[in-house]
Amino acid sequence: MKINKKLNEAINTQIGEELKASNGYANMAAYFNSLGLLRLSGMFFEQSEEEREHAMKFVHFLLEVEGDVAIPAVPAVPYTFESIKGCFETALAWEKEVTGNINNLMDIAVELKDYVSQDFLQWYVNEQVEEENTMNHLVALTEALGDRPMLMLEAYLSKE
Ligand SMILES: [Fe+2]
Ligand SMILES: [Fe+2]
Repeated sequence: MKINKKLNEAINTQIGEELKASNGYANMAAYFNSLGLLRLSGMFFEQSEEEREHAMKFVHFLLEVEGDVAIPAVPAVPYTFESIKGCFETALAWEKEVTGNINNLMDIAVELKDYVSQDFLQWYVNEQVEEENTMNHLVALTEALGDRPMLMLEAYLSKE
């Protein structure tokens, strides 16, 4: 079964977005590491790996449906951050953007009556719920902690 060209192209664009997110999370992980927040850093390195997995899952799907893999240039992402909370807010904004992108891909698949792609994309739809929740919780936690040391956040993460 050969995937439709329009959806194929949109998926290639999304592969770039996933890789961009992977790089962004690696930059954030390095920032947390520089602050000595090693658990948080570890968590963001893991997140970075996950985004790469999301990209590769799309690549393999394209191969399965006789599509063309054309990974686009990945734009630079921020590597300096003003605050930890700012990082979490940026990450949440990225995730919301990705949710919108995934929904757009699903819209195309629905429009094309491409049931195979709809089934495949449903995994990403569900995954985004978790991804947004993770970042939402981190934003909420930093708000709840206020000016208290971020070490409390590290202690919290150690119990997860
Ligand atoms: Fe992702
Ligand atoms: Fe994500």
